[in-house]
Amino acid sequence: MNEFRFRFLTILIGLLISITSCSSGGGDSEPEIELGDPIANQATSITSSSFTASWSRVYRAESYLLDVSEDAGFATFLAGYNAKSLVSLNEDITGLESNMQYYYRVKAVNGAIVSSYSNIVETTTSFIPDSDQTLKKAADTFFVGVAVQSGKLNGQYDETYRKEFSSITAEWEMKMNVMHPSVDTYDFGPADAIVNYGQTNGINVHGHSLIWHNSTPDWVKNFAGTDQEFEDMIEEYITTVVTRYKGKVTSWDVVNEAVEDGSGNLRNSIYRQKMGDDYIAKCYQFVRAADPDVLIFYNDYSMIIDQTKQDAVFAMVDDFIARNIPIDGVGFQMHISHDYPAKADIQKATDRIVERNLKVHFSELDVRANPNKDITSLTAERSLSQKAKVKEVVQVYNSIPNDNKYALTVWGLKDSETWLTDFYGYVDWPLLFDGNYNKKDAYYGFLEGLQ
Ligand code: GLA
Repeated sequence: MNEFRFRFLTILIGLLISITSCSSGGGDSEPEIELGDPIANQATSITSSSFTASWSRVYRAESYLLDVSEDAGFATFLAGYNAKSLVSLNEDITGLESNMQYYYRVKAVNGAIVSSYSNIVETTTSFIPDSDQTLKKAADTFFVGVAVQSGKLNGQYDETYRKEFSSITAEWEMKMNVMHPSVDTYDFGPADAIVNYGQTNGINVHGHSLIWHNSTPDWVKNFAGTDQEFEDMIEEYITTVVTRYKGKVTSWDVVNEAVEDGSGNLRNSIYRQKMGDDYIAKCYQFVRAADPDVLIFYNDYSMIIDQTKQDAVFAMVDDFIARNIPIDGVGFQMHISHDYPAKADIQKATDRIVERNLKVHFSELDVRANPNKDITSLTAERSLSQKAKVKEVVQVYNSIPNDNKYALTVWGLKDSETWLTDFYGYVDWPLLFDGNYNKKDAYYGFLEGLQ
């Protein structure tokens, strides 16, 4: 064989070998599967003895391995939950202890191939309060308030108020249209009943509210005198009311809702038209002159979600502080929903009150469970979501320094009597007690927020 033929044959054999090895390699062994890592979701349906763990589906996974532990480092596992193999994407973990922290993580599996761990989810089971626990006992560093009406201070209302609450606010009977219905009449009947109820039972009374555009009596809207006479009339009204309840009412919302939504401008109320932009400062000075000790608050809604409004209110507060206009605190009404606003936003807005060393009042808390009108009775899922939001609100409130705390007031006792039903024209369940005075999940969310 000459050299040329030899080299030709070697090349040919080499080629044949590489062709056969390619085709057999491609045909006989499985391609390598790549499994993504699952994403573990926040626990749901949390009770005092159980929760549901769930995770995302991973492409090509045939099963999952779930770890559950009381230890963030997974040094030990709950019985049966050391890589428990599951085909489903969720698992009810039961038989747990109340008020305990648990952790879970999961891996995806296909045959011998196993993914890395998911993120670790932390969750705490709800706690079972002592049978004699109440809202006011649990909240020992601030008042737990409730909005009341003078005709409903008896029977089970009375029992529940005295047992659970340490502060009351008149839902509507300490407003100008009720207390000063015409130019020369004052009617203190309902207000006196509420204040006396507080006094008799050792319950704090928050005054609400001296000036509010929506409770302005017609005679004030149509005031015939000069601007100076209008201002004198307002001064006299404020002085009369504040003096009457001096030493009995701890705090007043002096002006309620003075700032417009969205624009942050002052509402063009009759008070502003007659007394000018500085009417708010003047009203605060009238209150302080009548009672040097009463706490005076500015109160408004949507201050968490409407950043422009929030900024406008704090600009006003800063202006008051700079000019030595008396103000002791800011009230966030907190008419909110089960899924909104976020805890971090509540925290951020609240911090702005604390930074100014003022007192914080969450003054009208109710948490809508049906903001999108998609349920006709309070479902278990929505009730727990509402509970979680109440818990967040209480956690934010409870975490502020004690000196800045005042009260967390719920806007009514029973779901069946909430103002929201009339206001929105459909049913909701925004409070801590149902129509039969039964404690709801939201009630326990309040207690859990104080843990
Ligand atoms: C506002 C007022 C409250 C009350 C509610 C509706 O939030 O501040 O006094 O009128 O509306 O009940």
